[in-house]
Amino acid sequence: MNFSIEDKKIILKAIDLKKSFLLDNKLKLEVLKGITLEIFKGEILEIIGASGAGKSTLLHILGTIDKPDEGLIYFEEINLLSLKDEELSRFRNKNIGFVFQFHHLLPEFTALENVVIPMMIDGRTFKECRTKAIELLDFVGLKNRLNHKPSELSGGELQRVAIARALANNPKIIFADEPTGNLDSQNSQTIIQLIKNLNEEFGQTFVIVTHNPELVEIADRVKEIKDGQLLSR
Ligand SMILES: Nc1ncnc2c1ncn2[C@@H]1O[C@H](COP(=O)(O)OP(=O)(O)OP(=O)(O)O)[C@@H](O)[C@H]1O
Ligand SMILES: [Mg+2]
Repeated sequence: MNFSIEDKKIILKAIDLKKSFLLDNKLKLEVLKGITLEIFKGEILEIIGASGAGKSTLLHILGTIDKPDEGLIYFEEINLLSLKDEELSRFRNKNIGFVFQFHHLLPEFTALENVVIPMMIDGRTFKECRTKAIELLDFVGLKNRLNHKPSELSGGELQRVAIARALANNPKIIFADEPTGNLDSQNSQTIIQLIKNLNEEFGQTFVIVTHNPELVEIADRVKEIKDGQLLSR
């Protein structure tokens, strides 16, 4: 989206996030050492960094599926870390879409059901959810795969179902962890084009972790995690 600095509006602000893991040998592994970051409405922000640098850890914390040891996260005016678990789940289901490093679709459910489920949790009728889910799967080019289970779909198709599912509740931000990670170049191109279209046509905000230079090309901003800190690129 021709993203210009002048009309930027912050939707998420993270302040001084710190996260360590306590390892078996009692050593503390400091992964995030004080990360401050703003996410602007309508941008594609990409996060790069070496394997093990903490990219997934940061994405999970920003997307509220993990908690930092220290720091603050504001979504618009809401102090997310002050919410009770139940409020946070409701907030997440309504505002955040997540595309995981490994797709995390429910294996026993069809593509259609995987997209319907988060919408049902949001309290809409089955009929309404089904119509919207078909529309989303059509949008990602999978109208003829509605009743396939994850084991019956290709890697690129699984990733597109995961994107359709992430879009289910019109989230304000989609976090995507290596969305082209396990794909060949043609399937990667399909996913990159899909992300670009969603951003350009609907102003969808994305925060994407990637190693893929072609995906980095469509970013409005790129940040690198190194030694637990976030550097501008
Ligand atoms: N639950 C955990 N317990 C202990 N260590 C962890 C845990 N989760 C992650 N780590 C460690 O934290 C570091 C950062 O992990 P993370 O998954 O965020 O890396 P990443 O940048 O996403 O790497 P990749 O590019 O390989 O996906 C790694 O060294 C990892 O081993
Ligand atoms: Mg990772």
